[in-house]
Amino acid sequence: MQQTRREFLELFSRTAGCFVATASVGTLVGCSAPRPGSSAYGFPQGVASADPQPDAIVLWTRVLPDVFDAEESVPLLVQLARDEAFAEIVLEDEFTAERELDYTVRCFVDGLEPARTWFYRFIAPDGGASRTGRTRTAPAPDANATLTAGLCACQHYEEGLFSAYRRLVLDDAEAPADRKIDLVIHTGDYIYEGNNRRQTDADGQPIEIVNRDGSPRRIADVPEAVSLDDYRELYRTYLADPDLQEARASFPFVHTWDDHELYNDYWQSFHPSGPMQRRKVDANQAWFEYIPAALSFAQAGPAGTNPARDFIPGEVEDVAPADFDEDYLSHEPNNLAAIGTLAIHRTLRWGQMVELVVVDGRSYRGPRGLDDAILGSATVAYTNVPMPARLIEVQNAGRTADGGNPPETVELNGEMLPNTRRDAPRSSLLGAAQKAWLKDTLTASDARWKAICNDVPLLRFGFDMSFREHGSLNDLWWTDSWDGYPVERRELMSFVRDNGLANVVSLTGDRHAHFAGLVYDDFDGDSPTPAMPEFACTAITAGPRLKNQLAFSGGDPEVDRLMFFDGRDVGLQGALLPALNAWLLFGNEAAATLSATGDTEAARAAADPAVNPHLSYADTDALGYAVIRFTAEQAEAEFVTIAQPDRDFGEAGPPVRRRVRFSVPAWDPGAEPTLVAGGADGEPPLMGLKI
Ligand SMILES: [Fe+2]
Repeated sequence: MQQTRREFLELFSRTAGCFVATASVGTLVGCSAPRPGSSAYGFPQGVASADPQPDAIVLWTRVLPDVFDAEESVPLLVQLARDEAFAEIVLEDEFTAERELDYTVRCFVDGLEPARTWFYRFIAPDGGASRTGRTRTAPAPDANATLTAGLCACQHYEEGLFSAYRRLVLDDAEAPADRKIDLVIHTGDYIYEGNNRRQTDADGQPIEIVNRDGSPRRIADVPEAVSLDDYRELYRTYLADPDLQEARASFPFVHTWDDHELYNDYWQSFHPSGPMQRRKVDANQAWFEYIPAALSFAQAGPAGTNPARDFIPGEVEDVAPADFDEDYLSHEPNNLAAIGTLAIHRTLRWGQMVELVVVDGRSYRGPRGLDDAILGSATVAYTNVPMPARLIEVQNAGRTADGGNPPETVELNGEMLPNTRRDAPRSSLLGAAQKAWLKDTLTASDARWKAICNDVPLLRFGFDMSFREHGSLNDLWWTDSWDGYPVERRELMSFVRDNGLANVVSLTGDRHAHFAGLVYDDFDGDSPTPAMPEFACTAITAGPRLKNQLAFSGGDPEVDRLMFFDGRDVGLQGALLPALNAWLLFGNEAAATLSATGDTEAARAAADPAVNPHLSYADTDALGYAVIRFTAEQAEAEFVTIAQPDRDFGEAGPPVRRRVRFSVPAWDPGAEPTLVAGGADGEPPLMGLKI
């Protein structure tokens, strides 16, 4: 039965640390004035807002109790005003931060006017105030307003300072009025569960990264998060970063998560290293505490559904996966209970312009199309080289492979290995229920643009291994994203094509590199047709793809030279330069030529046009973010690559190495999307542009 917003609000208000307040239409008189100076309580993680609706916004903070562990709850005031000086306050309300939710608070404020900037702050019991936050409500449902959104992902605390956020804030301050950031989309890996790792520079030399306050940027106490306290400690530490705090206080955020909010490459509540239902519940609770979102409040989407729901605690045990359905969902009760504690897939509407469709690619997915038993039996370790697409296709399809006659063996490097997924269900990335909801939402939405906020790329990244006896143009390496779920990708993209769904765009992160390209309906079909464009932004800090690939290198020099080379050997600057851009955009011969000679003209002459024809841009040596802008005429993306933030650039922000622009003109139902190059500023990505 559909719940009304009133019912949602009542339910939410009963949760510790969660409050609902309605703004007044006029300016309030007699409001509290904070005393000058800082509060003894402090707001060490700053303030934040999220999920703008036409009439509502979620506000967030965390207070530090005066006497920690002695106070069960801390009374707070929240104020929201039309102006930064708080002369026109429209909301003042009292509530309490509860120890039960680590003294974090979520305040759902409704009764607001659409398309307006608002200012908010919190006041502690001693009269001291938090910093002032700025936020914005969505336009009215019938408004034709453009949407300008920051797009970011992947921030490992120990791998660098979150300077990219400072660049975003500073650029926004300079931007003309019609290009101001309305909201920031974060596609996940907001924290990383693994810590206490030594950092190295481009030459592999150890370096110590230091915070603005002089402290070492290390989380030595939590080598790997395994408990609620650990996950909380990570959020507390990450959110102490001043540049991240600045961005959170400047823009409303829209979040989904990826794997590292819990554990690398997990699916449902499982991982080959063991079942992790208890950790899933703990990670969900910490996410709920520290990441504001309008979950139960989300307006029912165009299909009339709101699947998202706030956190409800659950008691679970760690139990191995069992009892799979047709979509690889484990009905093992502890799994269902763990993933059921929090649901975050939802839609947000930006007037007539954009339906933001936020998906959860982790909680309902089955294992990728590459069984661990295969990896264990293979003579080649998965991490060292790309794998055959056919193997992944067959394993992903399980018992439905080859029209229901799955092969008994799969080939890897000329070796025939048992097909360990022969009796397994077909594996889904979204899960059956979320997939049905996504299809309904895309079909029913009358917004000009439908933007899928996606934790992992839909684009296929074929690795040209055709120089090897058993290699092909399209071997696959990054199988934790949609490349590991080719059957469902084909189903979804065909659905978009068959239903003539126009102006659907995927926005994602995850790969620690900038990419732009077109997702085809069927990459292996006879006439692959573009179904939707995808803009994938790089990491805020987590190692650039190029540096990460070093860790993937298995000492195979023929493969290594296609990923990176020492520029000094060929008269270029830089010890670690990417051949990887060229490998992905132009093929193995182009990449090998570049590595050997540094001559980009000769490398381009060796390009194979059959290599990833759908990819237009690859910047694998990049940290930064993107800015996406939707107008009635087009969707624009500007990819920003900043200097390596392994030292603090302060409040002046990091220098920009380059900006690369693309656009996608709006297309009519039945037509195909096209990607248009929009120019680049700064040092270009090494063989990173195809158009
Ligand atoms: Fe990541």
